[in-house]
Amino acid sequence: MSTPRVIRVAIIGCGSYGAEHAKFLATFAGVKLGAVADLDAARAEDFRQKYGADYATTDVARIWADREIEAVWICTQHHTHAPLAEAAAAAGKHFFLEKPLALTLADCDRIVAAVERAGVTASSGFKLRFFPAVAAAKAFLAKPTLTVAQVLDDHWASDFWANDPVQGGGNVLSQGCHIVDTVLHLHPTPPVRVYAAGGNRHHPTRDIVDTAAITLTFADGAVANVAVGDCGVSPHSSKFALQQSDGARSFSLYNRLNSLMTREDKKITEHPAQPEDGAAVIDRAFVSALANNQPSPCSIRSARRTTAVMLAAIESIHTGRTVDLTAPPYAAAMVLS
Ligand SMILES: NC(=O)c1ccc[n+]([C@@H]2O[C@H](COP(=O)([O-])OP(=O)(O)OC[C@H]3O[C@@H](n4cnc5c(N)ncnc54)[C@H](O)[C@@H]3O)[C@@H](O)[C@H]2O)c1
Repeated sequence: MSTPRVIRVAIIGCGSYGAEHAKFLATFAGVKLGAVADLDAARAEDFRQKYGADYATTDVARIWADREIEAVWICTQHHTHAPLAEAAAAAGKHFFLEKPLALTLADCDRIVAAVERAGVTASSGFKLRFFPAVAAAKAFLAKPTLTVAQVLDDHWASDFWANDPVQGGGNVLSQGCHIVDTVLHLHPTPPVRVYAAGGNRHHPTRDIVDTAAITLTFADGAVANVAVGDCGVSPHSSKFALQQSDGARSFSLYNRLNSLMTREDKKITEHPAQPEDGAAVIDRAFVSALANNQPSPCSIRSARRTTAVMLAAIESIHTGRTVDLTAPPYAAAMVLS
C-alpha cells in the first residue's frame, strides 16, 4: 500500500490571518507545516511553537532554498504581495497569496507573469466563493440580471496598517475586493464598465478611499450595485450581504453569506444556515488542487481581474467618470485564460 502524499508548506506572515491559515494547515492530514517566517523573530517563534512548524525564520530566502517546501501561504501587508509572490514563483513554490492581489495594476501583472513563467499553481484569498450558501445561490440562479451587494465594516482605526495608502490601500480596496469578487463569480459574463461614487468620509489623516457605491455593467447587460465602507455593520443584513434576481427568481444571502433564502413563484424557501468555516474552505480546495495536480480553484488571473475592477472603481471615484473595462489599461486584466 502506498503512503499518502504529504505536502510540506510554509507560512510567510505570522499575524492575524496567518494564524487563521495555520489553524487549518497544522491539522490537515495531507499537509505538514514545515516553516514559518516573519520579520518579527519572536512572533515567528511563537507561531512555530503554537502550530508545530519545523523551524521559524526571519529570512524568507531560507524558505525559497528549502527543497522540501512545496507551497507557501503569503499573509503579509499588501505592498509586499508582489515581491514575495515573484520570489516564491522564481523559487518554484506554489503559493496562496492573501487578497487583494496587490495595490496597483502593474504589481498584479507582475504576479500573473511570474506565475505563468514559472508554471506554479497559485491562488488568492477570495474565500467567499467557496461558502456553501454562495455555491447553492449560484446553482439556483445561473443568469442574474440584477445584483445588490455590500461589505460594510465597523470603523477601522486610522492608524491601522490597512488604512495606510502605501501598505494597505484602505477599506474599499481591502474589503471591497471580497464582495466584488463574489459578484463577479456569480455573473456568467465579464464586467465591461464601472462607475463609482464615494471617497474618504472617516479618515481625514489618510489618503485612501473608505466609502464607495459601485455600479458594474456586465457583457450580457446585467448590472450590479455594491456598497463598501467601514461606516458600520448593518444590524439586519450583516457585514456581507448579496441579493440577486433574474426577472423570475431571486435570492438573498445574509448572515455573512452563510444563510440563503430563495424565492420562486412567490414561494419563499429558507435554507439551513451554514456554520462559517473561515479560510479552511479555500485552503482545503487549494491543497486538494496541489495534491491532485489540478488547476487552482481561485486562479491568479481571476484574482487580478477582481483587484483591477476595484482599482477601476477607485479611479472612477477620483475622476467622476465611468471606466471602460474593455479598453487599456484594464482590458488585459479582464482576460481569464
Ligand atoms: N481573506 C480574508 O478574509 C482576510 C482577513 C484578514 C486579513 N486578510 C489578508 O491577510 C493579509 C495579512 O493580514 P493580517 O491581518 O494577518 O496582517 P497582520 O499585520 O496581522 O500580519 C502581517 C504579518 O506579516 C509580517 N510581514 C510583513 N512583511 C513581511 C515580509 N516581507 N516577510 C515576512 N513577514 C512579513 C508582519 O510582520 C506581520 O506579522 C493581508 O493581505 C490581509 O488583507 C484576509
